[in-house]
Amino acid sequence: MNESLKYSILFVCLGNICRSPAAQAVMQRLVDERGLTDRFYIDSAGIGAWHIGDLPDKRMRVHARARGYELTHRARQVRAADFDDFDLIVGMDATNVEDLRYKTATIEQQDKVVMMGDYIRQFPHYDHVPDPYYEGSEGFELVLDLLEDACDNLLDRIIKQNNRIQ
Ligand code: 4NP
Repeated sequence: MNESLKYSILFVCLGNICRSPAAQAVMQRLVDERGLTDRFYIDSAGIGAWHIGDLPDKRMRVHARARGYELTHRARQVRAADFDDFDLIVGMDATNVEDLRYKTATIEQQDKVVMMGDYIRQFPHYDHVPDPYYEGSEGFELVLDLLEDACDNLLDRIIKQNNRIQ
């Protein structure tokens, strides 16, 4: 399939070693399960540069593996071209979204930036995906619970709004 016809999603968090690589894997599995693998390109990136080239945090990998997700992404930082290259850019919390919008150059680029929290359905007390970096196991489980819920909802909406996908 022509790469330009794929719908592309970039998940973004602060370090690109916990939340956004997990979101990438969760969404990839949902897309695969729906038989839409060749219709999507899914990637992740970080606002910060601290972990460039690193695998996801060991704790995130262990918790994800228990649910059948292998996290093999290598961290990278968000770059200016991402705002043209991707159809949708999804920040995990309000600070990520603010940082992303600050990096945009046009209204069209700004319109591509959304927040994962806006797609959470089953956890009404959460309006963002909280940073688990300084949390215990329950923080990583919460990230996966929120991402599985929000990605499913986000994928439904993308498919409804884009005739080219199905
Ligand atoms: P993430 O978590 O944004 O979900 O990848 C973090 C990972 C590392 C740092 C902060 C948040 N850090 O400051 O190094």
